[in-house]
Amino acid sequence: NKNVGILAMEIYFPPTCIQQEILEAHDGASKGKYTIGLGQDCMGFCTEVEDVISMSLTAVTSLFEKYNVDPKQIGRLEVGSETVLDKSKSIKTFLMQIFEGCGNTDIEGVDSSNACYGGTAALFNCVNWVESSSWDGRYGLVVCTDSAVYAAGPARPTGGAAAIAMLIGPDAPIAFESKLRGSHMAHAYDFYKPNLASEYPVVDGKLSQTCYLMALDSCYKTFCHKYEKLEGKKFSILDAEYFVFHSPYNKLVQKSFSRLLFNDSLRNASSIDEAAKEKLAPFSSLTGDESYQSRDLEKASQQVAKPFYDAKVQPTTLIPKQVGNMYTASLYAAFASLIHNKHKTLDGQRVILFSYGSGLTSTMFSLRLREGQHPFSLSHIASVMNVAEKLKSRHEFSPEKFVETMHLMEHRYGAKDFVTSKDCSLLAPGTYYLLEVDSMYRRSYAKK
Ligand code: ACO
Repeated sequence: NKNVGILAMEIYFPPTCIQQEILEAHDGASKGKYTIGLGQDCMGFCTEVEDVISMSLTAVTSLFEKYNVDPKQIGRLEVGSETVLDKSKSIKTFLMQIFEGCGNTDIEGVDSSNACYGGTAALFNCVNWVESSSWDGRYGLVVCTDSAVYAAGPARPTGGAAAIAMLIGPDAPIAFESKLRGSHMAHAYDFYKPNLASEYPVVDGKLSQTCYLMALDSCYKTFCHKYEKLEGKKFSILDAEYFVFHSPYNKLVQKSFSRLLFNDSLRNASSIDEAAKEKLAPFSSLTGDESYQSRDLEKASQQVAKPFYDAKVQPTTLIPKQVGNMYTASLYAAFASLIHNKHKTLDGQRVILFSYGSGLTSTMFSLRLREGQHPFSLSHIASVMNVAEKLKSRHEFSPEKFVETMHLMEHRYGAKDFVTSKDCSLLAPGTYYLLEVDSMYRRSYAKK
């Protein structure tokens, strides 16, 4: 099979959000900490009528409708999520309700989870399936769905929520360069969810940032090595048009991209001209550990990276800055931002993605884009996702109402025997919402 990859995409995020500038003032943080310090503009969150199941039902049914895909045409469905509503029953099985109606129960795949990496694992499973001898000619479907919420404190502004559905098959406008992948997997306690009674993670914020950057370095090294073996020349950031990162908050994305330039300078790659070489040379003798701590290096590499960042990364940052960390959906929401902003000029371009899940798992991989043919074209994907309109039609909550919502959600997490307000007035038509969780913990949903 040729050009296996993403044929179609749909993104859903809740219509409820809070401005970071307002949250910052409410939390008593210094002015600019969330907006400049973390680089975030706004944060989306689920209210009591939405969860990762309802969001994924919404994304999948909307994808089928807008691309005219029959649920019968799906042969594999993989879900990536780290939001646990059930320790045994997969989110995939909830989505099977969409398929049972048309009699299609012959669908492989379950959920994948390891922090924010589950979506990438799900995506690779589907792509590998289409490329394999067990492929039966039908489409794969990948769903990334998460609600990222943190306890009150410094991590709270790095929440977010979304679901993304991606249709997988051959002759895709977004094709995998499957030989170009570098992974780094290791054991770390940087962010984890050992308390099964709470939706909130245990997080060592500083350690998680260093783990992320170390994983990035390692993946980039492996990626460059494989590229060199395959192409017979050194890879540098000039060999890809765009770089898309898992985006816990925008500041880390800025630091990540600068780190790639620092790597290029250590490898003497073509992106580093004389002036950049001079700026970065003083840091070439730092040990790995020292390099993660050095503020001077951070400053110098950010300076060198700035024009490249504006061209190669900035167009990918819109949704993550506006919605926040969507965990498994975060990387693909960044990619969706790129399609939204640049779909007219992406034909023939290479895009590099970096996926990171705490604990930790990470992969850097490469996509090759083509305009494609309707309905599976970049321009149609952009118009279906309708990102600008979805962002514009959101409702801003006050901090008081946001905190109240978080309290109610804490109370509801893992609970049974309750009905929701069933208030779907803020939701767009076609959105699924939670009606009740009965005395046997069984969840039921309706579609607006
Ligand atoms: N104006 C401008 N910048 C400011 C201001 C201000 N008024 N105040 C602080 N800053 C800057 C700081 O200098 C810092 O920048 P730096 O990173 O370049 O040093 C940044 O804002 C954040 O400030 P800190 O004091 O470092 O923030 P704090 O420790 O309170 O929390 C953190 C930040 C650790 C990211 C926290 O939000 C967190 O734990 N988040 C969850 C973990 C996470 O997202 N990890 C990322 C990878 S793993 C994953 O995806 C879950």
